[in-house]
Amino acid sequence: MNLDKLGRVLSPKQLRSVVGALATPQIALWAGAVSSGKTIASLLAFLIAVMRAPDHGLVVIVGRTLQTIERNIIDPLQSSVLFGFLAGQVHHTTGSTTAVILGRTVHLIGASDVRAEGRIRGSTIALAYVDEATLVPQSFWMMLLSRLRVPGAKLLATTNPDGPAHWLRTDFILRGAEVGVRHWHFTLHDNPSLERSYIDLLMAQYVGLWRRRFIDGEWCLATGAIYDMWDPARHIVSVVPPIVQWISAAADYGTTNPFHAGRLGLAADGRLYLTHEWRYDSKRQYRQLTDVEYSSRFRAWLDSTGERPPYVVVDPSAASFRVQLHQDGLASTLGDNEVLPGLRTVASLLATDRLKIAATCPEIIAEFPGYSWDEEKAEKGEDAPVKVADHGLDMIRYAAHTTQSIWRHHLREPVLATA
Ligand SMILES: Nc1ncnc2c1ncn2[C@@H]1O[C@H](COP(=O)(O)OP(=O)(O)OP(=O)(O)O)[C@@H](O)[C@H]1O
Ligand SMILES: [Mg+2]
Repeated sequence: MNLDKLGRVLSPKQLRSVVGALATPQIALWAGAVSSGKTIASLLAFLIAVMRAPDHGLVVIVGRTLQTIERNIIDPLQSSVLFGFLAGQVHHTTGSTTAVILGRTVHLIGASDVRAEGRIRGSTIALAYVDEATLVPQSFWMMLLSRLRVPGAKLLATTNPDGPAHWLRTDFILRGAEVGVRHWHFTLHDNPSLERSYIDLLMAQYVGLWRRRFIDGEWCLATGAIYDMWDPARHIVSVVPPIVQWISAAADYGTTNPFHAGRLGLAADGRLYLTHEWRYDSKRQYRQLTDVEYSSRFRAWLDSTGERPPYVVVDPSAASFRVQLHQDGLASTLGDNEVLPGLRTVASLLATDRLKIAATCPEIIAEFPGYSWDEEKAEKGEDAPVKVADHGLDMIRYAAHTTQSIWRHHLREPVLATA
């Protein structure tokens, strides 16, 4: 292969990492910002490593699921723009758990699939590539390492940073020399193809914790305010522009805790607005409501605030309430239970000035400023909000995140807070 020609298209860091990865004692790890060129550099190293891999032993690609492997790894490998003639040497049928790369069978293994793990247990591995390494269970990673039994066997991996206590950082990156790891830290500058406008877009979308980890590439603790971009002057409005499309109504369910519902619409200015909220706090009212009562009051509130939106999104843990709504003739959708992506969606909407809250929703407005990361959990490696005064905030997460596919293409261009 003509490395000189590649030197003109790869950034200096990419080129150094490809050369360095081939010389690593055992593990090569590309960590850092999103879109920083880690995957492209590591895949080039992988292709060269496939040619050089010991004959004995399997070649495997590990990702979270087969679908993420196909999207993140196989698709770029088959791009002739990126890999020239080598792209024609990558054969794969969608859904198949193997690919043929440069004539060699490569096993594609979703680490979240327990049966898939069985495919490598007991085998010998000559070369492994791991996508999104922090998301692979540590037990799986350790098992993979124990399979690298032939001389010259290597493991190449990419990842975005996680918390500072993550095992990949403490046991591998920080102990690199001892455990045979070479590691490169990538930033947006290391991708030679990024346009300024795209970098600005990334900067607008990644805020707070996500800015620090996914743009600055820091292995940082989840601490402080989750919605540190919350700005009452910017985000609270007394007049909501005309709604052109209702998106959702959502409910965070509580019996001893408050029940909090809200209504989200897309307005004529291309922004999402929380236009109404309804809260029932059994502690304030000295009486708990039954599901029958909640269903009746929720529907009455919904119908009093406008036409029914296409989606009614309910707290994923409120199974009995959903059943009651269904019996009362209202179909609902289960709220997306993944907390972090939901927080990121709301944070990004706020930061880009594309989500506003009507001043007539004081209960949720009161919750925004104090919403914080749980530092005790963060120290133990878990990113989670402190569980206090978060009922309206859970509601808006369901209302906005679960319905992304309907509003995503209708929003105005992001506005940068600093612009
Ligand atoms: N040397 C290069 N020449 C041309 N395009 C490149 C180069 N490096 C990266 N790119 C382009 O930039 C995009 C992002 O790069 P890449 O996928 O490697 O980023 P990443 O660091 O793996 O990001 P993520 O953390 O989001 O997975 C690629 O899809 C590719 O199109
Ligand atoms: Mg990548």
